[in-house]
Amino acid sequence: MKSAILSEVFAELCESQTHFDSLLSKVHPLQRPKVAVYLGAFLRRPLTLAAHFGIELADSPEEFWQLSFIRLKKHSGIHEVLNRIWESGGKYPNQGSIIDFPTHLVEEWKRDWGQEVTEKMCVMMSQDPLTTIRLHRQARESEEELKTEFASNVDLPKFRLGNYSILARVFKGFAPVQKSPLFQKGWYEIQDEGSQLMSIYALESEKVKSALSPVPSVGANKDMVFFSKENLKNILPMTVIDACSGAGGKALAIADLMRGQGRVYAYDVYEKKIQSLRKRAERSPDRNIQAVLLKPDEEARQVQLSKFNQSADRVLVDSPCGGHGVLRRNPDSKWNRKPLPNLENSLDITDLQKKVVTDYAPLVKIGGELIYGVCTFSKKETLDQVDWIKSNLQGFELQSQGFVGPYDTDGFFMASFIRKN
Ligand SMILES: C[S@@+](CC[C@H](N)C(=O)[O-])C[C@H]1O[C@@H](n2cnc3c(N)ncnc32)[C@H](O)[C@@H]1O
Repeated sequence: MKSAILSEVFAELCESQTHFDSLLSKVHPLQRPKVAVYLGAFLRRPLTLAAHFGIELADSPEEFWQLSFIRLKKHSGIHEVLNRIWESGGKYPNQGSIIDFPTHLVEEWKRDWGQEVTEKMCVMMSQDPLTTIRLHRQARESEEELKTEFASNVDLPKFRLGNYSILARVFKGFAPVQKSPLFQKGWYEIQDEGSQLMSIYALESEKVKSALSPVPSVGANKDMVFFSKENLKNILPMTVIDACSGAGGKALAIADLMRGQGRVYAYDVYEKKIQSLRKRAERSPDRNIQAVLLKPDEEARQVQLSKFNQSADRVLVDSPCGGHGVLRRNPDSKWNRKPLPNLENSLDITDLQKKVVTDYAPLVKIGGELIYGVCTFSKKETLDQVDWIKSNLQGFELQSQGFVGPYDTDGFFMASFIRKN
């Protein structure tokens, strides 16, 4: 098969407002896995792969990262690299470095965390992502059946246990796990381990906080098995509001962690996201989850939220953010062609985060917890926001905070505040 397909998809990506994963759905199913793997590799580590094939894309990384995405479409060197990637049949480095990230991001990370941590982060985020699933409790209770099913599926690589989450099983490389009938039965969902950890933290922050690190990019240590089967059984059913639920990755995990009891209210402002959450929730055996579409009009939304004042044991604000912790999965977003979806596009991301947390904090009961989370690691969206919450949200006291990944997991930050009055 000709390598032209990689160039075609790349050119379309540069031109359209579509993200890489949406664009893939237009590619013929037989070609999709190869295009996903090869083009994904290029987007994750463009300069490392160019150097590997002896092709110069620019005189310096700075110069390369100054090129607009649309100009890359016509860059003959890039098409040569794509050609060579295809012809190599996958024989190329699976790890990049600091040169594979836009200069302005690298500068910001260096200011925040120093050279060593930044280099580590770049190495981790230039690799291909793992496929991680979260086992629902019915799968955890019938693990032999699950193992037999996975072993008999020739398309699936071997899986290992998670390093952080007792619910995680991790496949190296491309794993079409959605094709299994067990997926249709709701036995598992695709969810990164860091995201799973945030779901557990939302309910049991005190038991999970030791897994967090004060800086990004610290790997799990061997004795990290901090959350036992016994702990899982002891999670109490609660009223949980997932204020920014998106398609519900964390909300579904929380519904399962509470063994189908208690109540999870999953909010989002985007109808499409709420629709995909509802679809996923139908597959899940749990019936303790309710998706709520928030009104787009600011005033109407405030009225809608005020009805839930002081009603929740936990409010998880998994806020819109820069998304750098998931760059392995959304490699084209390094070129930042499109602002992340939020209703208040006019707001700077840190102001939006402050607004979202201020809007939802009143929903926490006295004695309950507010959990602030993001999948990024710039200081201004993490530690600085915690300082802001401490100074500006009356009655909330910080309990714990920290990072997970980007190492074996995507990169997340989470902080828990208890409501004292
Ligand atoms: C980081 S994503 C959430 C991911 C999700 N929790 C998960 O586990 O898959 C942030 C979400 O916040 C939503 N959002 C943006 N502005 C919001 C607002 N003012 N109120 C509620 N949700 C909002 C976005 O639509 C987006 O789905």
